[in-house]
Amino acid sequence: MSNQEHSEDVYEILKNTGYSDKAIQYFQTNENTGIIENADQITDLTGPCGDAMKISLNIESGKISDAKIQVLGCPGAVASGCAVVNLAKGKTIQEASQIDLDLLYAELEKLPEKKVHCARLAIKILQKALDEYSKKQQELLQ
Ligand code: FES
Repeated sequence: MSNQEHSEDVYEILKNTGYSDKAIQYFQTNENTGIIENADQITDLTGPCGDAMKISLNIESGKISDAKIQVLGCPGAVASGCAVVNLAKGKTIQEASQIDLDLLYAELEKLPEKKVHCARLAIKILQKALDEYSKKQQELLQ
């Protein structure tokens, strides 16, 4: 089976289980996946299902100048992780801290109902990373 045929099969499966085209695209292009070397903030989080994410952020003058995510998990987790990073890039820390499940859902358009916790995990890791970064900054000021 060619790669093209394989990705068409994956598309069909995800479409039939309730993923939007946009969510499938996030999953298939793997946009924003990876890790930033020497990032300003690297945070790990494992969900109750056992899926794990690692987010890395570069922050310049209070703005998220670059962000990447590594996901060891289901298509819902990959799509959510990639989308949350896309939403966070270019935002200030304050703006990024407002990213919630509604905003992520609007970006993904549709996930299967059983996959809400995957999107929640992506929101949680972003917020955890921002909290950890802010704490580190405060400690530096003390
Ligand atoms: Fe665990 Fe999707 S099943 S994050």
